[in-house]
Amino acid sequence: MKKLIVANWKLNPTSKNEAERLARSVLSQGPYRVELVLAPPYVWLESIRRMLRGRATLAAQDLFWEEKGAYTGEISGKMVKNLGVTYVIVGHSERKVHLGETDEMINKKVLAAFKAGLKPILCVGERERPQSHRSGVFQGPIGEIIGSQLANALTGVPKVKIEILTVAYEPVWAIGTGIPDTPEDAMSAAIFIRRIVGKLYGTAIGRKLRVIYGGSVNAKNAASFINEDGIDGALVGGASVNAQEFFKLLKNL
Ligand code: PGA
Repeated sequence: MKKLIVANWKLNPTSKNEAERLARSVLSQGPYRVELVLAPPYVWLESIRRMLRGRATLAAQDLFWEEKGAYTGEISGKMVKNLGVTYVIVGHSERKVHLGETDEMINKKVLAAFKAGLKPILCVGERERPQSHRSGVFQGPIGEIIGSQLANALTGVPKVKIEILTVAYEPVWAIGTGIPDTPEDAMSAAIFIRRIVGKLYGTAIGRKLRVIYGGSVNAKNAASFINEDGIDGALVGGASVNAQEFFKLLKNL
């Protein structure tokens, strides 16, 4: 399977022209060897979709768990699905920090994503930087945090859906800080995540789970993460809204 690169534009850019310019410059310099997914703000999804022509697919950055109704300001999975969106990011740590998103809400969103026919990219990760992943840190509190984030988010999700799930290991301390995790430690996290999903759904399913890494990925370090056997791609924030940097990142893979 091709490696998956998700460009999480977050709250950028501020105009449709800039959004289109960014998408155009990335798309026109392809093709790339990876599966490219663009996650612009909702308001630019429609215009970016018209530019894709098979060169990339779209992700929404979030969704609400109800399909429709009296929920001012919310956007449902069905709405974005109807716009031609394929993936949806669920449980990003910035939503937990700034908007109080809880494990229970994330679980509802995961279920709603599957119901709408979207492929969720579920974010998990610890807040504090551990001393070292390799020295068995996942046996301790960090493992418990990630294990419970996964178990809570996947409550009620049937086995057949795990095939279209992606888990993004996103240590919170590495997001937007310029301090990425090490490839070795990200790899340990990926192995741990597959083991947890294996416990929940069976080893074979755990082993096949798509796991990507996110947190200060840039053109220089991307290949070191995703060339590792077992990390299937990256969720890229800051570097994905800089056209030249992102182009270099994609070409280096
Ligand atoms: P960053 O963001 O690449 O800017 O660290 C990653 C993310 O938020 O997914």
